Amino acid sequence: MAVKVVVIGSNGLLGQTLVNKLYNNKAYKLYAMASGENRNSKATELSYFEIDITDFSSIKLQLSLIAPNFIINALAMTNVDACEVEKNHCDAINVHFVKELAINSKELRARFIHISTDFIFDGEKGNFYNEIDTPNPVNYYGLSKLRAEKVVCENATDFTILRTILVYGKVANMKRSNLVLWVKKSLENRESIRVINDQYRMPTYVGNLANACILAIQKNATGIYHISDKEYLSIYEIAQQIADFYNLPKELIQPISTLELGQKAKRPPKTGFVLDKALKELGYNPLSFIDGLTLFHANL
Ligand SMILES: NC(=O)c1ccc[n+]([C@@H]2O[C@H](COP(=O)([O-])OP(=O)(O)OC[C@H]3O[C@@H](n4cnc5c(N)ncnc54)[C@H](OP(=O)(O)O)[C@@H]3O)[C@@H](O)[C@H]2O)c1
Repeated sequence: MAVKVVVIGSNGLLGQTLVNKLYNNKAYKLYAMASGENRNSKATELSYFEIDITDFSSIKLQLSLIAPNFIINALAMTNVDACEVEKNHCDAINVHFVKELAINSKELRARFIHISTDFIFDGEKGNFYNEIDTPNPVNYYGLSKLRAEKVVCENATDFTILRTILVYGKVANMKRSNLVLWVKKSLENRESIRVINDQYRMPTYVGNLANACILAIQKNATGIYHISDKEYLSIYEIAQQIADFYNLPKELIQPISTLELGQKAKRPPKTGFVLDKALKELGYNPLSFIDGLTLFHANL
């Protein structure tokens, strides 16, 4: 019998990517939930449910009718600067809704797969973070995601939390851009861009993050896993590699410091992950940045 999987937030970057991967796989019976119309162009006959996260009783009813084996939550308020300003809105989406889902997944005996972030850490460790390092978020988005992890641990019985870093990719009708799309488009338009040279990340191709979600289903993985691709680069170095890959003018990329840019919300300066647990327990395969870009390009 096919495994029933519900993807919540199916219109977002990860949500759509997951739907595209799971849709044609006969092992899974896929259901998708998001606000507004289904924006997933590849999965036109998808079992899609439009949801309003403030009306959890309707979502609960739908979920009970589906009786899923897995609920994957790819829905979140992901704009870090907006979270800093709209704290109550951020809490409603990133914490309270997650708590409802965690409680409901327990009631339904479904495994709850939730996505978290490197932004729960302060980025001051001076080394890569493992799953048991102490979180210390430096902005409200990070705090909300940390509180979400706590409500998942406290309220769900079978759960997997996948923390990830700087996700890039392209899906249909995107509401939000990402670093790779922004750099590529700006340089193609011959616009000069200012890119931070003192923040370091392990950029993650969304297709590979979706692979990790599917591995978590297949392995029935429990607990917290660090999932990113394997190259640790400054944001400036990432932009330069994108320019090289697409043969675009590198001289348009101006390095600037975090201080000069003056973002609304503070960012953790350096976040990289120790990936050993995911490699060993999930058989996860992290990519080099160029291999990720190659897949990104093939998927455009
Ligand atoms: N992107 C990154 O760099 C990154 C890094 C670390 C962790 N993560 C985590 O990865 C997960 C997936 O993120 P993503 O990159 O796929 O982000 P995304 O493209 O912004 O997707 C988030 C989805 O949540 C939906 N959403 C937000 N508020 C909503 C609301 N009030 N009601 C209904 N839907 C709402 C959005 O809907 P609309 O599309 O309709 O706005 C969007 O489709 C998130 O948990 C995020 O925290 C992301």
